[in-house]
Amino acid sequence: MKIFVDTAKKDEIKEAESWGILDGVTTNPSLIKKAVETAGKGVSLEDYIKDILRTVEGPVSLEVGASSLEEMISEAKVLYDKFNPINDNVVVKIPVNTYMCDGDDNFSGIKATKALSDQGIPVNSTLIMTPNQALMAAKAGAAYVSPFVGRIDDLIRKRIGLKRGKDYPKGTYYPEELAIRVWENKLGRFIDEQEIDNIIYRDHEIMKLFDWANDNGIFSGIDMLWSVKKVYDEYEFDTEIIAASIRTARQVRLCAEMGVDIATIPFSVIEKMMIHRKTSQGMKAFCDDVIPEYQEILKG
Ligand code: E4P
Repeated sequence: MKIFVDTAKKDEIKEAESWGILDGVTTNPSLIKKAVETAGKGVSLEDYIKDILRTVEGPVSLEVGASSLEEMISEAKVLYDKFNPINDNVVVKIPVNTYMCDGDDNFSGIKATKALSDQGIPVNSTLIMTPNQALMAAKAGAAYVSPFVGRIDDLIRKRIGLKRGKDYPKGTYYPEELAIRVWENKLGRFIDEQEIDNIIYRDHEIMKLFDWANDNGIFSGIDMLWSVKKVYDEYEFDTEIIAASIRTARQVRLCAEMGVDIATIPFSVIEKMMIHRKTSQGMKAFCDDVIPEYQEILKG
């Protein structure tokens, strides 16, 4: 699985690059806003973006800011013409659907994807919330699609929270306790940690019991991703899947287990992927056990 960092902050991109694990970068207008706020005044955004492009060899997604077909195509071309010559690694991010309110149409994003892809500009079709949107984006020629795992979890978690009078914290996909209790009742015994993933992420039958615990038959962001992958595998689309809106290291593991092409991950989550309490304890024990004779050898 390729790892992209989901940030526009140069220090995070450079740090991840220095670990030798970075295959690309995704940005969006919100991430650029945050990066500029952090960098402070006086920074040339154009130079800043060019520096990001030089830092990574892999694809860097830059998103358009408009929502009309003509403006999206024009902005995408500006981004591509201005920045792709720097390191030949620009991908233009186009929302799959730019509808926001009455009067907007639902199809400018897909038309822009088709038009730009036909012109050889690689498109990352973003804000994908359903397997159907991912199917349409692939058919329109998108080089990448970005299903938003975390935002689907946000939606389902909020819905379940409202129903159950609870406020589930960000980072839970949906209340595990619910699925666990149902499953325990069914089995007539307690279940252990290792079984939890199977129940939450793979046993849709359980969650299907709860009409309000899904989004049109999708039971979590990871479930949505799984469905996108199944559709793509079925028809052998070339479009690569970028698991986006990742909130936890656990989601990254599930992406890797299902064989998703790419996960774009916030830097804070990439850091967490390296950490385990027992690794630190083991490290301390090994260091404490280095006897002087061994130390002599190690000095060379
Ligand atoms: C990347 O392509 C997306 O813009 C990003 O993953 C969105 O993440 P968020 O839902 O945490 O904002």
